[in-house]
Order: sequence, then structure tokens, then C-alpha cells
Amino acid sequence: MAFGFLEEAEFVGLSADWSNIPVEQQLLINKLIENGQKHLFLDWDAPGTSDAEKAVFLDALAKVDGNYPGGLAGYIANSRTLLAEAREGLNPFEGLTPEQPEKVDLTSFSDEFEKYEAIGAAKFDKVGVVLVAGGLGERLGYNGIKVDIAVEVLEETSYLKHYADNLLAMQAASESKRPVPFIIMVSQDTGPKTLESLEANNYFGMQKEQVYILKQELVPAIADNDGALALDGKYQLALKPHGHGDIHMLLHTSGVAAKLAGEGIEYLMFIQDTNGPSFNTLPAALGVSVANGYDFNSLAIKRRPGEAVGGLARLVGEGKEFTLNVEYNQLDPLLRATINPEGDVGDETGYSPFPGNCNTLMIKVASYVKILEATQGIIAEFVNPKYSDETKTAFKKPTRLETMMQDLPKLFGESEKVGVTIFDRMWSFSPNKNNIADAAAKYASGGPADASATAENDFYGAGRARLKAAGMLVDEGEEILILGVPFTVGPKVILRPSFAMTLEEGRRKVSGGSISGDATLIIDGADVTLENVELSGPSALVVKACAGAKVTARGTFENEGYELVTLSDDERSADSDIEEYIKIRGYKFKNRGAAVFEFNEPGEYVVEQ
Ligand code: UTP
Repeated sequence: MAFGFLEEAEFVGLSADWSNIPVEQQLLINKLIENGQKHLFLDWDAPGTSDAEKAVFLDALAKVDGNYPGGLAGYIANSRTLLAEAREGLNPFEGLTPEQPEKVDLTSFSDEFEKYEAIGAAKFDKVGVVLVAGGLGERLGYNGIKVDIAVEVLEETSYLKHYADNLLAMQAASESKRPVPFIIMVSQDTGPKTLESLEANNYFGMQKEQVYILKQELVPAIADNDGALALDGKYQLALKPHGHGDIHMLLHTSGVAAKLAGEGIEYLMFIQDTNGPSFNTLPAALGVSVANGYDFNSLAIKRRPGEAVGGLARLVGEGKEFTLNVEYNQLDPLLRATINPEGDVGDETGYSPFPGNCNTLMIKVASYVKILEATQGIIAEFVNPKYSDETKTAFKKPTRLETMMQDLPKLFGESEKVGVTIFDRMWSFSPNKNNIADAAAKYASGGPADASATAENDFYGAGRARLKAAGMLVDEGEEILILGVPFTVGPKVILRPSFAMTLEEGRRKVSGGSISGDATLIIDGADVTLENVELSGPSALVVKACAGAKVTARGTFENEGYELVTLSDDERSADSDIEEYIKIRGYKFKNRGAAVFEFNEPGEYVVEQ
């Protein structure tokens, strides 16, 4: 028996228990002791006391050792290095000056926009979609998983169904009809319910084999600058989330990235759990990546100065050059220290010169796989300890290493090309992150509310924009506040991806017509066309057509449509039986007589009032 270089006498209990411990775990204990973790074992009870807890503890250590490339020894070594740098207060951008990144501005629809969409649409069968959905969503405070929340409550489509619908539409639109790979990263908090939701809904029409579920694991919490693993009890390791950057490690260790590359997948689009508009941007963003040879394309919006989203900048200096997301709390000091003593302020347009990161990423698979192999997918870990005093010797509470998926370009060399594609905000970025009270406060102080109601609002807004681009006359509507969160009372338009993924497709299927007031239009089906459809509020038209059903809707439709009804305090209370995803927006819609036409058999149909 050997404990490495330490005195056996220090480990009375462990020493007595040693022969009961399996050999692999003995080796792990030795490795940990050699790596400065003897505190984990000094208090070890003699055999016969807490044996079950001890076994669970050793299993937990073995599990985290196996999950992290380089094992616990690697994790401890990385922690020490990063904690030493944090303690010295090293500026991560020392010597670098921010400049404008290479960017393509697609904030308005144009021939250029459509040119990129056409290039992207031709590649639908060469793209996979990666959804990071391991986050807890503490700010939203929703009791289930975020991807089960409805993105709109006219038909109560969940985010997961909405994403699946887009994948199905992409594959139906491609010549090869090849299923679009869908990779979902879950965590122990979100994994079981995500699977439940997929299974209960028959994978929303996708094939089970096209869906890859990767589970991110927690990492050990670190108690001090020496990388001591923290405990939550004598035999319980304290664990914390490692951040969404885990997706890179998992795509590497699972072999999925390499497999997809081998199967001819050329691009992966990374999306967040509750950003409904992500797929509006997919065709054009893919086109931009292809046309401009981008290895990494960050989708962005015009950033308001001071806004709590990262700024995308090209950082230049000391023979180096990176295009990176600079977190908003680092952007102001960086700008003050380099190009602008006023910090994070707007330029002549009123916006920050550094586009706001939507964290929707289009990554070229060939370059990605190369980087993953070189780094084992551990992408730019960082640590953010909260020190208990200025000496920076102790932490207020244990910390851990973290990673962010957008940091991948930190590992790029000269040959990798990074670009930024800027879209209109409503079209590209409307996350559902905040509960009503916080959203109202954020809105009142001039920021975006990023709540369920605004996400739904922008969902309809993007539908209106698509319809307008197709040539219909579309009212803009008027903004009201519901519990302090803005919502537009205007045409509610849902054009499902089966109907149109690109502007050109919309234009081909819509001719003339108008929609005004709080009218509603919902179209689902590849072969639906609209001819001079007239809808004025509150009238509603819903057309759903299966594959092979060719439907022409024409003329005026008049009915009582859907009524917007705000919830009473009772309805919003915890014990009301209204669905939680309705409560978190503060309103619902009542169907007062919408005209609904559904076609479940192939054939030719005309829809008129
Ligand atoms: P958010 O910043 O929204 O974090 O994550 P969150 O943890 O989900 O929510 P809060 O901060 O507790 O309110 C951005 C995206 O990254 C995913 C989330 O699911 C979301 O899609 N994420 C975040 C992970 O997949 N894993 C993580 O460890 C953290």
C-alpha cells in the first residue's frame, strides 16, 4: 500500500480501510493526494462507518475523473494556472486593440440578402443543428425545461417542436431529403425531461436516428487558489455546471463531430434553447459562410451601447489577430484602455460599433474537427472567483472552471476566417430568459425585456416581415404593455417553415392581399398559396395542408378570430390550473371563431369564405 509521498500515519481511517477499496479507486486516491487533495481523505472513517457514503464518494470522484479530458489531475492543473492568472489580475486582452470585425450587414431585406439565402438553401442537406439546452434558466424561473415552453400560444407550439419543424422543412426542401442531424446538449437537470418530451411526441416527426443527445456533466467546485476540490459534506463532492462551451468537448469525445464530417456535413449551426428566430437567419447565414469562406460566423444584432450582450470585435496586436466576443462587462474597460476614453458608447448611428453577439454560430465542420482534435474540445476555459478580500487568497464561495461556446475562435490560427453577420433584431434574436417582473424592470430601464411575451411578439413580427417581403400589405400594429412587458397588438402571422424558409419561397406563394388590425394568419404546408387574401382584425385564417395537398386560399375572410385576454391575478397564481407557459406571459388567446381549414389527404383544394 502506498499513498505516494505522504505519511501513511496522516490517513488513519483510510489506511485501515485500504484493502476494502477497489484497485482503480486506490490509484485515483493516490493520484489525488499527489495532486494536493489530501484534505479529501484525512477524516476518513474506519471500516464499518459510513461505508455506503464512502463508496458513493469514490464513485463520484471516478466519474468526474473520467468525464474530463485529462482527468481530475488535468482539471486541478488547469484550475491552478487560471486561478494564478486571475489572482494577478491579468488583462485577457493585454496588448490588443479592438477594431471592427469583418462583417456582412443583412439588417434589411435586399437582393444581397436573397442571394445569400439561395446559396444557403442549396446546402440544407449539408448542415446540422446543435441546440445547447443544458441551462437551468434560473432567470426565467420556469418549472419544466425551457424547450417545452410554447414560443407562441395561438397554437402552443413548443420551442422543441418549432426547431424540429424547421429541420423537417429543410430536409423536405433539399434534393437529397437527407435528415438534418440534430444534436441536443442536455444536463442532468434537463436531460430526462428533454428525452421525455421527444419520446412523448414521437420525436416531433424526426427520425430518432437523426437526433443525438449529448449530456454535459458537472465539474468539481474549487475551494482555493491551490485547486483544492470543495466538499458539500464529508463524503460529497461539490459540483457545478461547466457552461455551454461543454458542447465542443462533447462533440469531440462522443465522436459525433467527426462522424458527421465523415458523412458529408459541412456546417453546424449552434442555437440556444429559447431563441425562436434562430431559423429565420439560417439560410442567409449559411450562405454568408459559404460565399465568404468563414470558418466561424457569429450572428449578431446592432448592439445598444451598454447592452448586456457581448460585443464582437477584431482584436489586433503583437502579431496576433482574433475576432472574438468580448463580454459586455469587459468591453467598456477594454475600450477605455485603448481606443475610446468614453468606453462603451455609440457611434454616429447611435449603436455600439461592435455588433451584439446573438450566440447563434455557424461553424465550418472541417476546421472545427481539426480544432477539436488539437484541443480535445476544451475551449478557452476561464475562472471567475469572487474573492473574500483584496489579498485574493480566499473565495466567498467555491468557484469552478467554465467555458463558453462562442470562445472557439480563441484557438484559431491565421488560416481560420471569422466573420460576423448582422441581422435585424426581431428577425434573429429574441430570447425568452426573464420572468415577467424582471423583464418589466429591464424594459422600464431602457433595455430589452427578453421575456416570453416579447419572444412571442417577435415571432409574429418576423411573420409579418416575411409576409410583407412577399408583397402583402401588412399593418404594423400598436405596442401595449402587459404587466409592464411590451406586446404589439397587430397582425399575428405564423408562416410555418414548411410554407417558407426563404423570402423567395414566400414571394412565390403569396400574391397581393392585406392584413390589418389584430387579424391572424397561420399557414402550414409546402403547397399552400395565398391569392389576394384580405384579413382585417379580428378575423383569422388558418390553413394546414399535408404533403401533397395543394391549397389555394383566396379572397376576404371575416370572423371573430382570436381575442387577446389578459390573465387575472387569480389565473396567474401558483394554484391556478392554467399552463405555466401561459402564466409566464400574462395573457392568452381565445378562439372566437377563426376560419380553420385542414387538409390531411393529398389533392387540390380552394379555400374561400
Ligand atoms: P443562458 O445564458 O440562458 O443560461 O444560457 P441558463 O443557465 O440557461 O439560464 P440562467 O442564466 O440560469 O437564467 C444560454 C444557452 O446555453 C445553454 C442554455 O440552455 C441556453 O440555451 N447552457 C447554459 C447549457 O447548455 N449549459 C450550461 O451549462 C449553461
